[in-house]
Amino acid sequence: MRTPRTTAAWAPGPILGIETSCDETAASVLAADGSVLSNIITSQHAVHQRFGGVVPELASRAHIESVEQVSTVALQQAGLTWTDLSGLAVTQGPGLVGALLVGVNYAKALAYALNIPLVGVSHLEGHIASAWLQNPAFPLPCVVLVVSGGHTHLYLKDPLGHCRLLGATKDDAAGEAFDKGAQMLGLEHPGGPAIDRLARQGNPHATAFPRSQLKKGSLDFSFSGLKTSLLYTVQAMSEQSRLAQSADLAASYQEAIVSILVEKAFAAVQASGARALAVVGGVSANSRLRTLLQQRADSENIALSLPLLIYCTDNAAMIAAAGRQALRAGIRMSLDMDAHASMPAPVA
Ligand code: KG4
Ligand code: ZN
Repeated sequence: MRTPRTTAAWAPGPILGIETSCDETAASVLAADGSVLSNIITSQHAVHQRFGGVVPELASRAHIESVEQVSTVALQQAGLTWTDLSGLAVTQGPGLVGALLVGVNYAKALAYALNIPLVGVSHLEGHIASAWLQNPAFPLPCVVLVVSGGHTHLYLKDPLGHCRLLGATKDDAAGEAFDKGAQMLGLEHPGGPAIDRLARQGNPHATAFPRSQLKKGSLDFSFSGLKTSLLYTVQAMSEQSRLAQSADLAASYQEAIVSILVEKAFAAVQASGARALAVVGGVSANSRLRTLLQQRADSENIALSLPLLIYCTDNAAMIAAAGRQALRAGIRMSLDMDAHASMPAPVA
């Protein structure tokens, strides 16, 4: 699946990371010590808003229009010029292949012109790396919950940094459950932030939505029953009562998603014996999830890493961070590197 890699010495220096896997064009520069010098993100939400979801062709076009400028601004904000860069990292997959190709081809052109090493990075590895951006000394072993629009994966990251999959969703990802639920409630896209905002005015216990545990002791997730339950609840209501109760519905639906995430994440902590938990990906920006995670971590004396909000949703600092690890490990990619719509989840 991946392009062959070669090993060569790398003189650590600033790295430019580029992310174009979905509907954010992002570029970020990390210093040689891994600190973030700039983190630029242009969102295409306005382009896709009226379609109720991301339109792949429009996403690719918008990336083409922005990638050069976003990268230039990232470099300027870092106070650097192109020739100061010592490496490039780009999201290779998973994602929309046309969107990924924009970033991959741009990064390849830069690597060729600047004659510096290039690595392709898994978007998931990027999200995982975001947990260590603010605190590189955050302890290992650590349970990592990746919750985004495409993934709900639980890993155990060992002291060598290798990830072992502990559980994953059997159907929808948590972010997808938020987005589809928001659509049923007539809220805008992306649905996660919309539900998060509306839920603040609602009662999380107004409706008892189902919380699927799957088998006893299972660390897998399922959100399809919950989604269907919201659909039936909404269909049984008049337009008027749906509008009147939308904050309660949003709060109750959100509560069902986040409580299952918290429960399984801490079950994984307990089962693995790790004393640390990191929660990353777009859904980790959810305010109710962050509150419940912090309360539980405090009461069980577990170290918790929650990225700053700008590092939860898609960004290029996380891609540069994962790329930096790869470059330090001697990984390089040749200029025939390709983008991949699907890529295997990271495993040890
Ligand atoms: O990581 P991300 O930006 O992109 C993917 O890799 O998918 O995650 C996007 C997902 C979307 O489903 C979005 O609705 C969700 O993260 N999201 C949230 C919040 N902010 C973003 N979900 C719940 N609450 C939020 N505040
Ligand atoms: Zn993501």
